[in-house]
Amino acid sequence: MPEKESSVPPDAPTRRGLLGLVGAGVAGLAIGGVGGAGIASVLAKGAAADDAAADSDDGIVTFYGAHQAGITTPAQDRLHFASFRMVEGATRDDLIALFKDWTAAAAKLTRGEELGSGLEPDNSYLPPDDTGEAEGLHAGHLTLTFGLGHALFVGEDGTTDPFGIKHQLPKQFEPLPNFAFDLLEGTQSGGDLCVQACADDPQIAVHAIRNLSRIAIGRAHLVWSQLGFGRTSSTSRSQDTPRNLFGFKDGTMNIMSEETKALSQHVWVGDNAPEWLRGGSYLVARKILMTLESWDRSSLREQERVFGRTKRSGAPLSGGAEFDQPDFSAQQQSGDPAIDVAAHVRLAHPDNNEGTRILRRGYNFVDGSNPLGQMGGGLFFISFQSDPAAFVRVQKSLKPDLLNEYIRHVGSGLWAVPGGVKKGEFLAQALFE
Ligand code: HEM
Repeated sequence: MPEKESSVPPDAPTRRGLLGLVGAGVAGLAIGGVGGAGIASVLAKGAAADDAAADSDDGIVTFYGAHQAGITTPAQDRLHFASFRMVEGATRDDLIALFKDWTAAAAKLTRGEELGSGLEPDNSYLPPDDTGEAEGLHAGHLTLTFGLGHALFVGEDGTTDPFGIKHQLPKQFEPLPNFAFDLLEGTQSGGDLCVQACADDPQIAVHAIRNLSRIAIGRAHLVWSQLGFGRTSSTSRSQDTPRNLFGFKDGTMNIMSEETKALSQHVWVGDNAPEWLRGGSYLVARKILMTLESWDRSSLREQERVFGRTKRSGAPLSGGAEFDQPDFSAQQQSGDPAIDVAAHVRLAHPDNNEGTRILRRGYNFVDGSNPLGQMGGGLFFISFQSDPAAFVRVQKSLKPDLLNEYIRHVGSGLWAVPGGVKKGEFLAQALFE
């Protein structure tokens, strides 16, 4: 393809030329290290025009609302999860500008619109504002869910206040403790900010993370990310229960979007939190490798014993159908419990955890294979809860889990997810007021 001729000299910018300069701003940030107010205001203008439409069946999940999308939204099939770190020397103003830019971009991306002047700046000596690979793919139910890490409030060593928001740290927001059998790799753990992009099409999710990452240049940088496919839970009764890579139905007993009371109790942060977090949640991500080869050599009886459910229907081993509550007192003819004392569903069940419930929204992943020819697959576990202590409670209960023989936790992160964004405001705005 011949290079497109610039129709406007760079020194006489029109409106489109100005939008082209936003692209230059992005590139310039890589060199200059700070800034970005320009792109914020230009993208914000575009976003303001977007806001008229609401949720519809055209594949658009509205970005604005009381809660961030991507939590109770019916789980899409594809994930690109990304963790970012603020660059050294970034200031409070940089953080605010980044949130403004991300908000404006997220509003456009979730509507399937191109960023800035799109693929073709008038000045072809400038990079396009939008990387282009989602052109023609529409919105694809893209949701973007943003989270803030502990170190953003108190620095890596827990004692500083790099962005002047230390006083906004909720007391519940403690880093996760170490759990039994954790084999965490620093390369896939933690981060100052996270973005969960979910969509029907992987290219849409990747395009979103790529462009948010590009917009962040000079203020924050990508530290690790994870692709996921095949949701491993339902978040709405309108969805069938999917299966994880062990071939079992996963998400049967999840909290569903229709359970508004359970959501208020277990998922949404209430009024006792700082304003910026109200209507938000806490996101836990755990990258869990599954030793698929050992699993595939285990008998069906063993596999069902591990979960306490049947493989085909997902019914509890105590009897009944998939959605019936397990009866943990039921016995086999031998007198042994129908559901093993160390079965996953027994240990994770609210009855074993003082009523604790979490909303699971994970994805399968396969990151190629290792030199031994084993598949590097597993579950990228994601859960949302109103207090990180809920996850800690359940994870600690899973210490004697039969499942532990077949899994390895290698990545971990915890982020506070601010409440939803109102039109005309930006992500976590109340944090800075
Ligand atoms: C690779 C790791 C894991 C796999 C393959 C897995 C798989 C499953 C399956 C098949 C079920 C039964 C169906 C259902 O109700 O969804 C289940 C239930 C559940 N799991 Fe996991 N899980 C994993 C890790 C975890 C972790 C790390 C947690 C939380 C710390 C967790 C929490 C739960 C909960 C709360 C339930 C519902 C229990 C109930 O109320 O009956 N799981 N899981």
